Amino acid sequence: MSTLVSSRSLTAGDLKDQLHDIQDNVVAPILMRYGRHVFVKFTDGARARAWLRNMFDRVNARREEHGIRFTVNVGFTYEGLKALGVSQPSLESFPQAFRDGMRGRARAVGDVGPHAPEHWEGGLGGPDIHAMGWIRTDSDAGRDVAMGIIRTEMEAAGGVEIRFVQDTMALAHANGIGSEGEHFGYADPISQPPIEGADTPWYPGDGVLRQDGAWRPLKPGEFVLGYEDEAGPQGTQAPDPPELRLNGTYMVFRKLYQDVAAFRRYLATAAKSLYGSDDPHHQELVAAKMMGRWRSGCPVDLSPEKDDLAIAADPERRNNFTYAGDEQGLRGPIGSHLRRSNPRGTPLKRATAVQRHRLIRRGVEYGPHLPDGVLEDDGVDRGLINLFINADIERQFEFVQKEWMKGGEFLGLDPNEQDPINGTGGEGSQMSVPGSKRPFLFDLPTFVVVKGGEYLFVPGLNALRGLIAQKF
Ligand code: HEM
Repeated sequence: MSTLVSSRSLTAGDLKDQLHDIQDNVVAPILMRYGRHVFVKFTDGARARAWLRNMFDRVNARREEHGIRFTVNVGFTYEGLKALGVSQPSLESFPQAFRDGMRGRARAVGDVGPHAPEHWEGGLGGPDIHAMGWIRTDSDAGRDVAMGIIRTEMEAAGGVEIRFVQDTMALAHANGIGSEGEHFGYADPISQPPIEGADTPWYPGDGVLRQDGAWRPLKPGEFVLGYEDEAGPQGTQAPDPPELRLNGTYMVFRKLYQDVAAFRRYLATAAKSLYGSDDPHHQELVAAKMMGRWRSGCPVDLSPEKDDLAIAADPERRNNFTYAGDEQGLRGPIGSHLRRSNPRGTPLKRATAVQRHRLIRRGVEYGPHLPDGVLEDDGVDRGLINLFINADIERQFEFVQKEWMKGGEFLGLDPNEQDPINGTGGEGSQMSVPGSKRPFLFDLPTFVVVKGGEYLFVPGLNALRGLIAQKF
């Protein structure tokens, strides 16, 4: 175990020497396009630990077996930690949100109606989901080879059963600048919070806005346990003992179905209602106002009237804005997805420090692209697998989901106004779009439906070794 482990939190300066102990995809993304999430139940703790011992060599390995390159990450639910035999004091030291799990917190974060857990797939959020193995590789065939290896080992070890499998595949975006994209047609991801001390590339706009107008990375403890965070040197002091938390994090897995045909149809309806127009430009303008970025990735804050591919292609410019001077949301609507999920310099009605609510997004799409121009649903399941990395599920993911996505008051909007992409939608829903001919969108369809999810503890490698050895 590391000699640095104590109840004292580490600093950003310590991070570099610890990177080897943090699971891949936390600090920097794994750029392998094909993914498979395998959710398992541990039916026998001792045998499950033996299986994990075999798997362990592949975590962070990106090694080649049977001619394919793949890597595996592993995260545990609270039920999974119990099944592995973690001691009662350690179990009780985990934060309440993680212990309740996503299903237990559903009502509190607004997962009701069509999003409610009784509709979730594969037992997600239930007592039989204990861990998630996450394979990343370079091809469809590679996924099956990796799965075959893991399955063989699973059968040999016993004590582990597969309960749910979800494939993902990064979609390319058609903006010609090599971005990844998502099903509604936007470039994604662009904006990610950088971590001080991690030494990964980042650009203006990604981090925290300083008083002098420059940007800085966030303290590591916002995303990795055992480090100083934006509140001070102490960082998050759970779970116990410190060796269990050091270099670990929480991953929020959320399967979100996207109704692409409904989204496309709505743009035409909305262009007519906001601008009295059938012009495709106005449909693109509506899409840009709802998201806060044109589909190319160019932010409306920098180019409110028309798309600008030069800005979209320039990493120094495409995220470099603060919403300053746009208090009314005439350029970027206050209720747009982008401004809600990271209000940057927007004055907020409820005092809170924006840097305490940031999320690293490692989400990837699932399901095939609905061919361009198709306006009727083809019945195929497609959407986004949200994967948020955060050190405090309640303060980060749940806060953004509940306060910033599902309400408007914090921005001075009508309290019933919700995020146009992820809101509950339906009759009576609305979004204000200041500056347009008729400054409101009404009755937005439910474009995104929650199909299930899990809160996962993703331990550092030493901690994972300790969990396998029943040290905690
Ligand atoms: C299917 C559902 C969703 C879609 C299609 C979607 C799409 C997008 C797109 C296209 C962007 C702009 C690209 C970028 O700036 O990186 C974005 C940004 C973002 N989204 Fe989402 N998103 C979805 C759900 C969510 C949810 C549920 C949350 C949080 C609870 C969230 C949080 C964020 C954050 C934090 C950003 C970055 C904002 C910034 O830093 O300016 N998204 N999303």
